[in-house]
Amino acid sequence: MSKDPDNPETIERTFIAFKPDAVQRGIVGEILHRLERAGLKISALKMIHASDELLEEHYSEHKGKDFFQNLVDFMGGGPVIAGVLEGVKAVSVVRKLVGETEPYEAAPGTIRGDYSHVSVEHANRKGKAVKNVIHASGNLEEARKEIDLWFDEDEIFTYERTDDDHIR
Ligand code: RTP
Ligand code: MG
Repeated sequence: MSKDPDNPETIERTFIAFKPDAVQRGIVGEILHRLERAGLKISALKMIHASDELLEEHYSEHKGKDFFQNLVDFMGGGPVIAGVLEGVKAVSVVRKLVGETEPYEAAPGTIRGDYSHVSVEHANRKGKAVKNVIHASGNLEEARKEIDLWFDEDEIFTYERTDDDHIR
């Protein structure tokens, strides 16, 4: 790894979306605060009521799975707040803060562990989507694809945070 702290190769951008359950529960601000507090920079943020077409593309890796339609219906059931976060190894840092996919398994201290608890088994039995508050890109390739899918170039911003010197 380079010794240059500003080596752009360690600075990543990742895609997040506050799912409709987070928006409807009024907990977006609290959760965004956690991400900002960790030093992640908000490069983009917008509210959007996603179309089925956008969601089917976003979740294309899950096409054909039993939960696919429920997931698309849930994500399109209300507005989401989509964002791009930037930081050192931002993709894995954000996944770590978000926690396990299944709320029941997500550790305390993680976003999903602190704000949700249901099991996949329960959601499936109820025929409902797993409402787990937030989406975050799983890897760098997914992040690039998702940022490109959800944002135009002129919606993503570059600026200095005054605490940049201390946090990265
Ligand atoms: P996300 O993409 O939303 O950040 O979540 P993830 O990577 O942790 O999980 P992923 O495997 O990509 O699944 C995407 C979303 O689909 C719902 N899901 N339901 N009923 C089920 O078995 C099931 N499995 C996944 C969840 O909302 C999950 O976040
Ligand atoms: Mg995923």
